[in-house]
Amino acid sequence: MKVFVTRALPGGAIDRLTAEHEVEAWPERLPPPRDEMLARVREVEGLLALLTDRVDAELMDAAPNLRAISNYAVGVDNIDVEAATARGIPVGNTPGVLTDTTADLAVALMLGIARRLVDGDAYVRRGEWRTWEPDQLLGHDLHGATVGIVGFGRIGQAVARRLEGFESTVLHTSRSGGVAFEELLERSDFVSVHTPLTPETRGLIDAEALQRMKPTAYLVNTARGPVVDTDALAAGLHAGEIAGAALDVTDPEPLPADHPLLDAPNLLVLPHLGSATHATRERMADMAVDNLLAGLRGEHMPHQVN
Ligand code: DGY
Repeated sequence: MKVFVTRALPGGAIDRLTAEHEVEAWPERLPPPRDEMLARVREVEGLLALLTDRVDAELMDAAPNLRAISNYAVGVDNIDVEAATARGIPVGNTPGVLTDTTADLAVALMLGIARRLVDGDAYVRRGEWRTWEPDQLLGHDLHGATVGIVGFGRIGQAVARRLEGFESTVLHTSRSGGVAFEELLERSDFVSVHTPLTPETRGLIDAEALQRMKPTAYLVNTARGPVVDTDALAAGLHAGEIAGAALDVTDPEPLPADHPLLDAPNLLVLPHLGSATHATRERMADMAVDNLLAGLRGEHMPHQVN
């Protein structure tokens, strides 16, 4: 069968796909432009997409033979899953394998912003380090702090497990329990976002939520950029409503170098690196290929979301 893979993937997983199917892989570093996507899927039965590819009803209609979609991500907010289901197309994702890697990064961001790692590095490089000073680049402790986890799925729980080692007090809020969202915002020294992006969570951290947070608290987002209202965050940081924010994900992505958010103080930003380790990205590729192979065989995918 014909398969379109929208980017080169790490490891040897694609070889297993090529062994069974006729695979075309987009060779560029940047995602295929929309017109290319629409043209390349015209005759394919299988699509292996990235979170940067919009897989919507229009694209599915442009691919009348499409019988399996595999996303190289656990989040599937780039895919219109309802439209796929209506067309009888299974959609696969990559849960589990990136849980610990992403949780590690969330904790790294907490430490990075609160212990001023980027400020310290820049300070040394600017040649400003003259001596050890009692009040130089002071930050806040993660150990013993209260950390509020918004969304208590696999990754949120993995963050909570790590924080046991820091003797932090962990609060969580989720659809299925925990404390009220407002209480979590008011009590936490760190608010860490781990919800999927859905119509309910889009803009969840808005101006009102930021105002509820302590002025000494930090916001960390390793989930999806649009869960946080970017303009409200920029305004909140400028106004000193919170102590800082550490973001692995932003809205928009990529964040242009001249984006107004980057003028805000006390901000640490990464280019969506949550799952970015060699081992995890290879495991994600294996899982995405396994899903696609199963879907093309007409079997239930090992990790199917619909
Ligand atoms: C995912 O899998 O959804 C992540 O955001 C990619 O690391």
